[in-house]
Amino acid sequence: MLFKKKKTEVAEYRKVPVHLGIIMDGNGRWAKKRGLPRQAGHVTGAQVFRKITKYCEKCGVSYLTVYAFSTENWRRPQDEVDAIMNLLRQYLKESLADFQQENIRTRFIGDRTPLSQDIQELMAEAEQTTAHKTGMTLNIAINYGGRQEIAYAARRLAEKAAAGEIVPDSIDEQAVEDALFTEGQPPVDLILRPSGEYRLSNFLIWQSAYAEYVFMDDILWPDFSEKDLERAFLEFGRRDRRFGGV
Ligand code: FPP
Repeated sequence: MLFKKKKTEVAEYRKVPVHLGIIMDGNGRWAKKRGLPRQAGHVTGAQVFRKITKYCEKCGVSYLTVYAFSTENWRRPQDEVDAIMNLLRQYLKESLADFQQENIRTRFIGDRTPLSQDIQELMAEAEQTTAHKTGMTLNIAINYGGRQEIAYAARRLAEKAAAGEIVPDSIDEQAVEDALFTEGQPPVDLILRPSGEYRLSNFLIWQSAYAEYVFMDDILWPDFSEKDLERAFLEFGRRDRRFGGV
């Protein structure tokens, strides 16, 4: 009886965020724990990413942003950077077929210009192939940094002002928002980070002004499952979001 009651109460809390951000952390530690090279963690991490993306769309998440490679990740050993880029290449090639089945609109945020030409072309193809989709929007952050994004927005606005298209006085919060990579998308509601790190690491720093955080310190990304996402939705539903009001 008590168990039943608890279950109902818990289910009532569950809330699916409109915009979910995920920092897919812990791949390296997961591999190390198993005596495997760090790259093995990224391979499993990429599989989990595909599974969780599909589950998010099924749950009714409207926007999902995943942190796949930051502007700081170039500091990693070259073979690890190459492994992540290869996974991205493989994902893009394989999912071009997948994209036909799914109702997911895929977009990339970040500066793609330093990426290899073939990856840039695959990214553009993925975006074009899925542009008309009406389901969830998936933003994959690659060579992305929140500060880089804000600097980019400032540059865009300065260029417009210099060209006489806008006057500096008209630059308000909305104008900055419209110059971000996530232009036209709602702010992020919930950010998940597995692996026990309690920080944002330059992820969606503008968009997360009123985001809720769920730091899951009992799990590493390659072990992440639908059940863990459900745990996060329950926790999110318990939060009292006041957005600065009372
Ligand atoms: C963080 O774990 C993870 C990354 C920097 C890379 C994330 C990449 C993937 C999940 C795969 C590729 C993605 C796509 C879109 C195909 P970490 O290496 O920092 O882990 P650690 O903190 O345990 O060392």
